[in-house]
Amino acid sequence: MSWIERASALLKAVILAGGEGTRLRPLTYWTPKSMVPVLNRPFLEHTIAYLKNYKVKSIILALSHHPEVIQNYFGDGSNWGVQLNYAIEDNPLGTAGAVKNAERYLDSTFVVLNGDIFTDLNIADMLSFHRGKGAKVTIALTWVDDPCAFGVVETDSDGRVKRFTEKPSPTQVTTNWINAGIYLLEPEVLKHVPANTHYMFERGLFPLLLELGEPVYGYPFSGYWLDMGTPEQYLRLNCDLLLSKAKSALVSGLTKDEVCCDEDVIIHPSAEIVGPAVIGSKCRIDQKAHIKGPVVIGPDCHIGDSAVLEVAVLWEGVKIGAGVSLKQCIIGTNTKIEADDQASNGVVTFTHKRVA
Ligand code: GDD
Ligand code: MG
Repeated sequence: MSWIERASALLKAVILAGGEGTRLRPLTYWTPKSMVPVLNRPFLEHTIAYLKNYKVKSIILALSHHPEVIQNYFGDGSNWGVQLNYAIEDNPLGTAGAVKNAERYLDSTFVVLNGDIFTDLNIADMLSFHRGKGAKVTIALTWVDDPCAFGVVETDSDGRVKRFTEKPSPTQVTTNWINAGIYLLEPEVLKHVPANTHYMFERGLFPLLLELGEPVYGYPFSGYWLDMGTPEQYLRLNCDLLLSKAKSALVSGLTKDEVCCDEDVIIHPSAEIVGPAVIGSKCRIDQKAHIKGPVVIGPDCHIGDSAVLEVAVLWEGVKIGAGVSLKQCIIGTNTKIEADDQASNGVVTFTHKRVA
């Protein structure tokens, strides 16, 4: 192990897993955004496996929305080979406020991750950059086509951040490098964050540190990066993983056209399934159903006679009637779709239907 790998092994991590995920509603009414299933496993499980790959094993989950769902699932983290601590907010404290709320656990350089980011960024390399620059904050930067939904970060030729503009209007966009939602921080910067108060990194702490002349650096990287916080990006992440465009530390990629079934799946011999597809336990797929990947089917789903699924993610307990046709869809837990219905490019749940 190199010195920097040893150093990254000592990092603690804070995952900001408290947001309500308003852009993923109605899927996230009853579940925190970070628990949405990706390849049939909670998103957060992929993030924890990613951190563990970098030997980061002391992880603090900063939670506000339905914290019990996450605590009941992960407990103390020992089943995942990590040590989990929880910092729970009575009311959402914002991104920086949530980390301030976890301050008791943080006594040396630590990494913060937005809880909806999927990436293969090299944390050890970012730490080496952070140390080399003598930074108090290093912000990972990724390049996107349209930065307006993100925080734009301008740096000088040495990588020092000059300006941070959250959710710029098109005329304010001066660069396509955006805040990737992954930071290395020195604990001392938390003295600028008010306790028990809603306070953001993006509109509060980062601009303040720039004003104070503190060393804040941007670390550009070019690997895989995606914010899964919208239906389109959530669907894309599942597809990218199935197509091996992205790699999860939790599950190995499928080979081309592979169909991967959990236990007790019943598939009628006349059903046709073209991978890549992941099919959860106890699913039943009836005669002449046609499934064309990338597709993820959660546990306990039923696909009726001659139904057609193409590029779709079905959560647990979904019932698809005979002759239904679904394309580019996300179907929420326990949703029942009546026979011969059709949906494309949308999110369908049992309480809401939003089909574009
Ligand atoms: N614990 C806690 N408490 N977590 C929170 C809170 C809170 O009050 N508010 C937001 N979060 C979590 C969200 O769950 C999410 O994981 C993360 O903080 C970022 O919030 P989003 O609501 O997803 O923000 P965004 O995607 O619009 O913008 C952020 O991420 C972009 C990258 O995807 C900003 O950091 C942008 O600057 C950045 O470019
Ligand atoms: Mg986000």
